[in-house]
Amino acid sequence: MQRVEAEIARLIDECDYDEVNRLFSMLQGGKRLRAKLILKIAPNHKDAPLLAAIVELIHAASLLHDDVIDDAKTRRGVASVNATDGSKIAVMLGDILYSKAFTELVLFDKDVAQTIASAVTALSKGEMMDVAMAESFNSDEEKYLDMLYLKTATLIEAAAKASALLAGKDVQKYAIYGRNLGLAFQIIDDILDITADEATLGKPAMNDYVEGKCTLPYIYLYKALDAKEKEKLLRLHAKKPTEDELLWMKKKMQEHKTIEKSFQLAKQLSAEAKAAVSEEEELVDILDTMIKRSY
Ligand code: FPP
Ligand code: MG
Repeated sequence: MQRVEAEIARLIDECDYDEVNRLFSMLQGGKRLRAKLILKIAPNHKDAPLLAAIVELIHAASLLHDDVIDDAKTRRGVASVNATDGSKIAVMLGDILYSKAFTELVLFDKDVAQTIASAVTALSKGEMMDVAMAESFNSDEEKYLDMLYLKTATLIEAAAKASALLAGKDVQKYAIYGRNLGLAFQIIDDILDITADEATLGKPAMNDYVEGKCTLPYIYLYKALDAKEKEKLLRLHAKKPTEDELLWMKKKMQEHKTIEKSFQLAKQLSAEAKAAVSEEEELVDILDTMIKRSY
């Protein structure tokens, strides 16, 4: 991972602008999940650390833009760039990271470059759907999972596919791994929004529903409630709840086991990912760590 961090530092330096160095140094690196996958799938390829750095810069750019879109005050436990330096700066820093990543990406083989580039179109579409879907209550599970696939899983899937291409491995197998890992990862993220506290999350807890996001535990809850309770849940959508309302939602989720049900789906997706790469211990470990993260 040190080689990835060194590549990231080099790319940031090459932007040749002190302000970019200053702002970038304020960002937290995060779990580097996408970079880890690339290094594990193509450990011996000389360009794997660069590809990993490119994907991490794209991911960082997408989060900078996402925080502007969500008007988020914190990211990974620290103040977001839009909060400290304003939305204009956050958008442009995202543009710089994103375009620098692409400047390097075009030097890779066409298949590798296309795999990553098309994933960025997909994740942007996913983000647009996410915003549109937050406008009103959504109880359609399939629609929600389609959006999650685009918003989160496509870049993870593309990282797995592109590194398999680099390493001359079976691309299809790694695509299945990346896709299912990405979906399970986001479902667990959605669960943690409800079960974890602010200190653990690095952002306000139970904030998804306030932002209008109807994640799986809310979709399952809606389906389980009676008509009157359904109305109440709809009334609470996209609003800051009182302490009583928050407790009511949590109690109802417990009663109808909607967190467990969501977690079961994450576990099932994780099992499918495992089956695709069962002989690769380190890739299986990534899944196990992710599943453990939720409790
Ligand atoms: C976080 O989701 C957001 C994403 C995973 C993708 C965001 C994508 C874009 C803004 C479009 C792409 C733009 C560029 C420049 C590549 P979330 O809001 O559900 O999660 P959070 O709780 O971590 O904010
Ligand atoms: Mg967000």
